[in-house]
Amino acid sequence: MDCAVVGVAFYMVRIGGVRQKMAIATQIVPMERIMSENVFQHLKTLEAQGLEQIEAVNTLEELTQLNKQLLGKKGDIQATMKAIKTLPKAEKPKLGAAVNQAKQTLQAAFDAKNARLQALREQQAIAEHRVDLSLPGRSHRRGGEHILRTVQREIEDVFVKMGFRIALGPQIEDDFYNFEALNFPADHPARDMQDTLLVEDGSVLRTHTSPVQIRTMLSYPPPIRIIAPGAVYRRDDDVTHSPLFHQVEGLHVDRNLSLAHLKGILQHFAHELFSPSTPIRLRPSFFPFTEPSVEVDIGCIFCDNSGCRLCKQTGWIEILGAGMVDPNVFRECGIDPEVWSGWAFGIGIERVAMLKHRISDIRLFFESDLRFLGQFGLG
Ligand code: FA5
Repeated sequence: MDCAVVGVAFYMVRIGGVRQKMAIATQIVPMERIMSENVFQHLKTLEAQGLEQIEAVNTLEELTQLNKQLLGKKGDIQATMKAIKTLPKAEKPKLGAAVNQAKQTLQAAFDAKNARLQALREQQAIAEHRVDLSLPGRSHRRGGEHILRTVQREIEDVFVKMGFRIALGPQIEDDFYNFEALNFPADHPARDMQDTLLVEDGSVLRTHTSPVQIRTMLSYPPPIRIIAPGAVYRRDDDVTHSPLFHQVEGLHVDRNLSLAHLKGILQHFAHELFSPSTPIRLRPSFFPFTEPSVEVDIGCIFCDNSGCRLCKQTGWIEILGAGMVDPNVFRECGIDPEVWSGWAFGIGIERVAMLKHRISDIRLFFESDLRFLGQFGLG
């Protein structure tokens, strides 16, 4: 038990021949008794000191710490309640009331100080992050559709209005759909026409959208009228050739179709996409999956068909390959070539976009340069 000495008597004693004064405790009382006698005084002192300490605090963190020290469950004010057991019965409720009073007084001081420190902190934050209303605003770039997507949609619109449906196929394609079913026999030199990127044995990055013809004819009976837009890949890279580019395939299978139907449809397409006066012409060509095959040119839109550097003085620019569906392809898809006829075409979207917007380098489409893209609504 903690005790305190409250009475002392002095005696003169001789220790080792030397007279010395010695103090003897005559009254020792437990600390609790002293506390109980002075607890009310002690509480007042704690309160007064507490108020001074609260006043002296400079930060919210210190204030929280002080609050815990004074008003916490194990804090100084609560500790004075220990003296309650030493008080006469009549005094006990008074101590409880005095402690509550002290707590309320201190808590009110804490609240007031807390409000002041909070306000101060806010003022400092405002001063630090002061908004300069005279600064010009930051502009935000608006996103938009890529020019290739826009041109693809324009091409799709022309054919959808004529009753074509949109079909899609995978970009990693089986050799069967990309070559074999399209009448490219294994090891046939015609495969070299399209520099192929191989994925693994038996599958390739599709070199054209023509495999969608096969997938469609194997899935649906004629009559068929579809277009198939999408990305294709070749080992090809210069100002007019990109290793990744886009095509729109067209396929029409019905009875009694002829090259004249194909020409009529493509003429309409050129008029809609370029101008009502844009002519087209068909030149003989070769694709293993069409017979006869043609390459289709449009009248050069840079020189109005009269001959310039861009059309190599011919007045014409090639935009697509096309032809009548080869009977072998029909047979591969289980369609009787004696009953059904068909034509197909494959348009290069980048080529169309380059002509429409007078772009001389295909690589600009893929460089994500906002100065370029911004001219077409991006940015
Ligand atoms: C084909 O890809 C055939 N599948 C098209 C076809 C479909 C013919 C149906 C008959 C029937 P070609 O390799 O010519 O054909 O490509 C067609 C068009 O794609 C070209 O006219 C050109 O516009 C575009 N093209 C070809 N290679 C590239 C390339 N590397 N970069 C950009 N565009 C290209």
